[in-house]
Amino acid sequence: MMYSKILGTGSFLPEKILTNFDLEKMVDTTNEWIIERTGIKQRHIAGTHENAATMADTAGRNALAAAGLEPADIGMIIVTSTTPQLVFPSTACLLQARYGISGCPAFDLNASACAGFMYGLSIADQYIRNGTIKNALVIGSEVMSRIVDWNDRSTCVLFGDGAGAVLLGASEEPGILSTHLHADGNYKDVLYLPLATSQSPTFETVKMMGNQLFKLAVNILGDLFDETLAANQLEKSAIDWLIPHQANIRIIEAMAKKLNLPLDRVALTLANQGNTSSASIPLALDLAVRAGQIKRGQLLLMEGFGGGLAWGSALVRY
Ligand code: ACO
Repeated sequence: MMYSKILGTGSFLPEKILTNFDLEKMVDTTNEWIIERTGIKQRHIAGTHENAATMADTAGRNALAAAGLEPADIGMIIVTSTTPQLVFPSTACLLQARYGISGCPAFDLNASACAGFMYGLSIADQYIRNGTIKNALVIGSEVMSRIVDWNDRSTCVLFGDGAGAVLLGASEEPGILSTHLHADGNYKDVLYLPLATSQSPTFETVKMMGNQLFKLAVNILGDLFDETLAANQLEKSAIDWLIPHQANIRIIEAMAKKLNLPLDRVALTLANQGNTSSASIPLALDLAVRAGQIKRGQLLLMEGFGGGLAWGSALVRY
């Protein structure tokens, strides 16, 4: 039986930090409101010299180094991003050029924003398990600061920029045990971003019905956990770590409660990074791995949820 295993993780965060106090000077909000309603204290903002490809580059190199591999070892590159620098070529192709490699399949995957990394991980897992490739680099890289309306207090306080990467490799030992992906396009209006074209009257920004999205997330993610545990014939007590998409601390707390997990068994980056969309799960994973919190052999439950709606989980023996 062949598995795909996480051989290395990496991440990148831009240097510039925007605090809640900075936002108080930009829109009608307060540090207290943002912390109480979201759990966010600050977020990183990409500089003009940075974009999805430059951030993915560093995150990917860090993951390769952690795995002890070289760019030439990569069998597939998947970048999950809703904020690429170019519509095409893909950020994944730009990475090939940056890494000085060619030939392996490389593509961007947009599973409606925040669920993207779960979709990317699942696709790479299928290719590794069926023996087509040996290693895959999966990277979430997002420059959310360039698609939010900085005059809209209901969205601009939520998002941040960054990139997180995972190097997956073929292994006879268990790694990814299962992935579950879902979508429901009937909820297309709760979160969306129109494409700016020559016919657009203005620059387009994220539109969100936050309250509806919040309730949907709590219900849908609860069912997703039940589905994931049942498929693996496991009790919730088996889970060592929850690595959630970082959208709102109240959603994460509800999910931890559902699993009977204390918050110190949840990989949390929300307070310092905000919602980095499809980069948030690999960023949280890398931080907890490098802090020595997540250890080899532990069982990790990852979950992503975002526009589309689209959502997914991965159960992983680290
Ligand atoms: N500062 C102060 N007040 C604010 C702010 C702000 N930044 N933003 C909104 N408010 C006000 C509203 O105007 C409203 O005022 P009113 O009662 O006078 O009308 C009040 O606060 C309550 O607004 P709600 O939208 O009901 O606030 P809520 O408690 O729902 O919190 C939030 C909003 C944080 C967006 C929350 O709904 C949320 O996190 N939703 C889920 C987001 C999510 O899951 N995203 C995941 C996917 S993201 C992706 O895919 C890219």
